[in-house]
Amino acid sequence: MSDRSHLTTRAARAGIHGESGPLVPALHQTTVHSYPDLASLHRVLDGEDSGNAYYRFGHYNGHVLERAVADLESAAEAVTTASGMAALTATVLALAEAGDHVVADRNAYGGTRSLLETDLPRLGIRTTFVDAADLAEVGRALTPQTRLLLVEALTNPTLRVPDLPALVALAGRTGTTVAVDATFATPALFRPLEHGADLVWHSIPKYLGGHSAAMGGIVAGATGLISRIRQSVVHLGATQAPFDAWMALLGLKTLPLRMRAHTRGATAVAEFLATHPAITRVHHPSRPDHPHTGIAARLYPDGTGGMLSFELAGGRPAVDELVHRLRPSIPLSGSLADVATTLVHPATTTHRSLPPDELEALGITDGLVRLSVGIEEPSDLIAELGAALTTGESS
Ligand SMILES: Cc1ncc(COP(=O)(O)O)c(C=O)c1O
Repeated sequence: MSDRSHLTTRAARAGIHGESGPLVPALHQTTVHSYPDLASLHRVLDGEDSGNAYYRFGHYNGHVLERAVADLESAAEAVTTASGMAALTATVLALAEAGDHVVADRNAYGGTRSLLETDLPRLGIRTTFVDAADLAEVGRALTPQTRLLLVEALTNPTLRVPDLPALVALAGRTGTTVAVDATFATPALFRPLEHGADLVWHSIPKYLGGHSAAMGGIVAGATGLISRIRQSVVHLGATQAPFDAWMALLGLKTLPLRMRAHTRGATAVAEFLATHPAITRVHHPSRPDHPHTGIAARLYPDGTGGMLSFELAGGRPAVDELVHRLRPSIPLSGSLADVATTLVHPATTTHRSLPPDELEALGITDGLVRLSVGIEEPSDLIAELGAALTTGESS
């Protein structure tokens, strides 16, 4: 960790190490380096010198990003990966083997659930899905064979907020490693390691990058755990490309500033939507009817970022109408966390693989829309949503 100045300051200076040279770290777009002698190459291969023996083993731009994110997450170390899913896969394969058990939040991202439900059972790794907000259920699911407890800091799309310190205490009883997907939260708003979690991971094209232009994932934690995960990344060939690491670092520099604007926008939009007659429910931790307002206030003193979802009284036809009327200002998008506001219909996109009864249990109805509120002026967004919803109502 460089110093303990404010997170905003450290983010802005990410990648600058004081010595003379380019202000923006150079892009090392090469798969391999040459070395003057075997000893120099061995030092890189043994991890004593950072360098690029061969791209898949790690490279300069990856290491710069890893140091920056580790610093923001209060972690000793981090490892970058080709995608968020690569980060999760490498983590599970590094820490669990045949016969082991995983406990995961059933509200987790669909890709996370697919890996746990479809691929890992074939390797003998079994998962029990729980509601991570239900501590009694989590307590019943954890066993001495449970190697990993996987939760999301804020869940998609209903913004549930698990009580991480309480989950960490429960996992401690069975010696279970706690890994938190903090893609929605980011270190600007919530740092799971400071609440006792062992690992935190992210999908980089979301808030960390912020510009929807760089792919990647990252896991941060203690050196021992990250070394094991790094080895698994190398074996899987799941290394992030140097260009994507370079781009992600540029985005990371403005993360705290962006998260403030996302939070301000989502809170204002949630307040507006909550009073609109075309809308029956708004899922946002700032709303008094959200089940986790108390936990959110305790764990997220600066707010919860740009994500929210809402339920249209008119169901699926009203969703189609809204998507149509909001174009092109607020487009339909398969991802989230861009600086521009986007929306998605979870039931038929992000959660399409789930059967109807599970969708219902997770509160993902046909009329539910997820909004990723960008950094635009909130009054503009409210005017656009108001115009689209009012017209939708009368049609
Ligand atoms: C919360 C969350 N976690 C993980 C992932 C997976 O990340 P990636 O798409 O980078 O593999 C996503 C992707 O949308 C996500 O939304």
